[in-house]
Amino acid sequence: SKKFVQIAIDGPASAGKSTIAKLLAKQLRYVYLDTGAMYRAVTWWALKNHLPLNDEKAILQSLGHEPIVFVPAADGQHVRLFDTDITTAIRSEDVTNNVSQVSALPGVRAEMTKRQREIAAGQDIVMDGRDIGTTVLPHADVKIFMVASVAERAKRRFKDNAEKGIHVPEETLAKEIAARDYKDSHRAESPLKKAADAVTIDTTHLTIPQVVAAIVTEIEKKRPTRAK
Ligand code: CDP
Ligand code: CDP
Repeated sequence: SKKFVQIAIDGPASAGKSTIAKLLAKQLRYVYLDTGAMYRAVTWWALKNHLPLNDEKAILQSLGHEPIVFVPAADGQHVRLFDTDITTAIRSEDVTNNVSQVSALPGVRAEMTKRQREIAAGQDIVMDGRDIGTTVLPHADVKIFMVASVAERAKRRFKDNAEKGIHVPEETLAKEIAARDYKDSHRAESPLKKAADAVTIDTTHLTIPQVVAAIVTEIEKKRPTRAK
């Protein structure tokens, strides 16, 4: 059977993972899977239904077998759950500030990991998240650990927010980012951690095209016998 290519991109919030993963997938003609959007979708659902965010049984039962669907659209990938377009809703501050609690639940992680592996099974894929190289796709062909300083990441999020008309002070964003880094790195189940065989890319002083090029270089390194 054909072996599909897997590219895993992990790292903390606002390091540039989704921006770069999306561009890379487009360039390589691979599918892009935003696993953070899946945890955000579950969090959105739990908040909407007023489920206790520490009750994984209630959350999973309420979610059932409902798939979190990614729909290609002119303005990027749309996320749907229970026939509702939640693309914008899952980026709210409310979801952002509660997602680490929901993503720490072992049952939720097991379910999302299973779904992510099913999606990767039949196609070449670029997947980004926190535990792709360590847990979801431990045999990924290329693993990238993307980092950037907290100050730079707060600056990026501030700019993203400003474009959406949201005004949260940069200092608050820096605190929120640091808090989420801490929670994501210290949870018991698949914490954010560099895989032993991952390549670290610090994007603090790199442009987006420079980061894409750096990853393409890593992919080329893994294909020394590729026909020219
Ligand atoms: O885009 P941003 O960096 O804000 O985060 P995200 O990729 O949308 O992920 C949101 C949250 O989901 C993270 O803070 C983690 O708590 C969780 N997550 C995870 O636990 N495992 C993943 N593979 C992806 C995201
Ligand atoms: O997915 P993740 O949370 O890691 O980050 P992102 O949402 O892709 O990137 C956060 C912001 O940083 C976006 O507005 C990107 O355009 C920007 N960015 C940048 O300015 N320079 C980079 N080298 C990478 C991302």
